Amino acid sequence: MKDVPTKVNHSPFRGYSGYISSLKRLSVESHRVAGWDTRVDAALNGQASVELRRVAPLETRRKFGAFFTGTDLGSQLIDCDSRFGPNSIFYDPSCGMGDLLIAVARRLRLGKSLADTLRLWGRQLTGTDLHREFIQGARTRLVLLARQRHRTDEALRLSDSDLFPGIRVSDGLKEEALFSCATHLLLNPPFGKVAAPAGCSWASGRMTEAAAFVITALERAKPGTRMLAILPEVLRSGSFSEHWRRRISQLADVEIVQPYGMFDDSADVDVFLLRLTRRVEAECPPLYLWTNSAAPRTSTVGDFFTVHVGRVVPHRDEETGPLRRYIHPRNIPMWKEVTRFTEKRRHEGLAYQPPFVVLRRTSRPSHPYRAAATVILGTKPVAVENHLIVCEPRNKSADTCRVLMEKLHTKRVNEFLNQRIRCRHLTVGAVADIPFSIL
Ligand SMILES: C[S@@+](CC[C@H](N)C(=O)[O-])C[C@H]1O[C@@H](n2cnc3c(N)ncnc32)[C@H](O)[C@@H]1O
Repeated sequence: MKDVPTKVNHSPFRGYSGYISSLKRLSVESHRVAGWDTRVDAALNGQASVELRRVAPLETRRKFGAFFTGTDLGSQLIDCDSRFGPNSIFYDPSCGMGDLLIAVARRLRLGKSLADTLRLWGRQLTGTDLHREFIQGARTRLVLLARQRHRTDEALRLSDSDLFPGIRVSDGLKEEALFSCATHLLLNPPFGKVAAPAGCSWASGRMTEAAAFVITALERAKPGTRMLAILPEVLRSGSFSEHWRRRISQLADVEIVQPYGMFDDSADVDVFLLRLTRRVEAECPPLYLWTNSAAPRTSTVGDFFTVHVGRVVPHRDEETGPLRRYIHPRNIPMWKEVTRFTEKRRHEGLAYQPPFVVLRRTSRPSHPYRAAATVILGTKPVAVENHLIVCEPRNKSADTCRVLMEKLHTKRVNEFLNQRIRCRHLTVGAVADIPFSIL
């Protein structure tokens, strides 16, 4: 008897299929079953990334740029645009598990019934990804969100592919129609390095693939299309990305450029948020629009420092891993240099190599200066609590840290922060935007 040939799944993410099947089962379970809501919340908030990390090694995730946007970052991106309604069409060319589409769908109107909502959303939400598992996951998670928002057990007669025909397996860089139909483009593209295309005017050698995604998207979009993107910080501030920024400024009005800090705990890369509107091409666009202001660009803290939130969450993190010097707002003096450390703790995650500057995230009314700083010196890495913001000098110089501490102790910086953020909490984006030069 001949063997019946079985179809072999060569997908690098085949190990993820089990998780997708569990999402599909959840999408047809009654919402009245105990714990259904909690399980849907988990499925829509970060679980897709955690599961991918469990089944696919970092090397594979890096190779394909498979890092999904967290709920907070996704909603911060969508908050950058309030101009969308029932006629808007969204396209995410590298949609992964649909996190950006989900962030939009949280704000879309519901129809009269679940089927009605899915029909409306199916017309408004489009996306492509190279991997079948992710496309199935994205569609299923949108069904889960719609069902949760409706709180209904209404049966669906159509499969998820009928419900979301515009979300499909395809190479986003080869799409044409989806770009030109969209009113809004959503992007968190792969960040891996690829060779610049021959004859490319805005890059040479190796570049981040994210750069190509943005240019391709803008070149194919019609005038008036809005783009919301999460992109690697090198594209905003790297001197070698200047040709790329110039090309973008020819194609679009640059409206919001907002440094964000680390993408997440698993992808150790700084990102920024970008909002653009495609316009008719201009010959000599003004590059200073990248500063998000009408004034010529002045340099900022983000040009000289990488800015992060400290990594230790004391009540969450187990005390395992190497024994580190440990700082938090209560064991370091303000406006001083620290070389001796009074506390140590074990910490598995990232520790920072001095020199660097830390700022207290929360300022008290009794602190006359909002960005209360300390310069951290020494030779060994230091674990930093998450109530501190870390500024690592790109030139690794203690003197650059001293200059920053001195400039933070000024009325000018206070006024900038009071205008930029009204609450008492400093954000990574606001710190990176503080006007700063070493002179
Ligand atoms: C950084 S992830 C982001 C996914 C999603 N946009 C989000 O924000 O969560 C990038 C995604 O791009 C996909 N991808 C990589 N190259 C692609 C291409 N040429 N066309 C379509 N998708 C692609 C990867 O499979 C991955 O899911």
